[in-house]
Amino acid sequence: MTERRRMLTGDRPTGKMHLGHYVGSIANRIRLQQQYESFFIIADLHMLTTANTVEDIAKIAENARHLVLDTLSAGIDPDNATYYLQSAIPEICELNTLFQNLVTVPRLERVPSLKDMAKASYKDEMPYGLLGYPVLQAADIMCVRSHVCPVGKDNAAHVEITREIARRFNHLYGEVFPVVELIKADVPTLMGTDGQAKMSKSIGNVINLSDSPAQVRKHVMGMYTDPNRVRADIPGTVEGNPVFVYHQTFNDDKAQVEDLEQRYRAGKVGDVEVKEKLAEAINRFLEPMRERRAKYEESSGLVDQLIVEGTERTRKEVQATVFAVRKAMGLTAAYNQIRRKAERAAKKTAGTTAH
Ligand code: TRP
Repeated sequence: MTERRRMLTGDRPTGKMHLGHYVGSIANRIRLQQQYESFFIIADLHMLTTANTVEDIAKIAENARHLVLDTLSAGIDPDNATYYLQSAIPEICELNTLFQNLVTVPRLERVPSLKDMAKASYKDEMPYGLLGYPVLQAADIMCVRSHVCPVGKDNAAHVEITREIARRFNHLYGEVFPVVELIKADVPTLMGTDGQAKMSKSIGNVINLSDSPAQVRKHVMGMYTDPNRVRADIPGTVEGNPVFVYHQTFNDDKAQVEDLEQRYRAGKVGDVEVKEKLAEAINRFLEPMRERRAKYEESSGLVDQLIVEGTERTRKEVQATVFAVRKAMGLTAAYNQIRRKAERAAKKTAGTTAH
């Protein structure tokens, strides 16, 4: 039997998942999940690089459940998904330690997302762990020897570093790892409801996948739109307008979108109508997720069981990978050599003392 190729991706357990996550990575997970054996990491060690207070850590369990329930509701098939909690698999840290020597500090300093994350968490100097964020991510991806990794734009550079580490490892120690393929989102990063570059829970400009119809409507009615259009009879700009970007992304009624765009450009439609229709469209889009969520919430314990089974299953895989890594690097042989000598010496001493 030929083994199925693998997909690995995941998220930090910092809260609920939103439409930006959906567009950036979840859509690809759903599309690819049957083609690959799927692993989803709950990356709490990555969370620690920017949020490591006792309060942050106390929220890991609940936020881990959000990640699983949100992605199951979005359409991940629990029968073909392995979820695991990163911090429960210490062997990932061992790989991280070994991979740290396969990448340089200047290379990591050039990764733009790390500076952004440092700034967003009010760190004026780069923590050592945050600089190593992509190396730990390489350990995540390579610990199950994953072939593909669907992520949003922010994470593309981390996957590139993973590829470099895999090549470097294979070159130095022999072919152990596949060079993972980055799977990019087919649409650009989704802007926030306030028009800022991206949805971000720290800014609060998000629509969560678990929002109720009323919450969605409230967010949409308050959305940033063409600021020059102070009256409904003034022609408006569609390009780059968040309300229309969302229409194009989530509204399945393409004829309606086209009609609204034409009337907006001509100054023949009010913002309220455009937004009402957007709220309806997003709610149509989220409705199947709400139905699945209700079903999963009924089977109590399912989410926790999935995480525990997935973590145990993944840990075995990672242990096998670490074994292969130690062997390829010669670390196993180094210790074996010492042990054999120690055993021989012990036998000798035992022999002399016996006389
Ligand atoms: N860096 C990802 C994020 O932005 C989380 C993550 C950690 C991840 N390890 C990963 C994603 C491995 C894909 C593969 O939250």
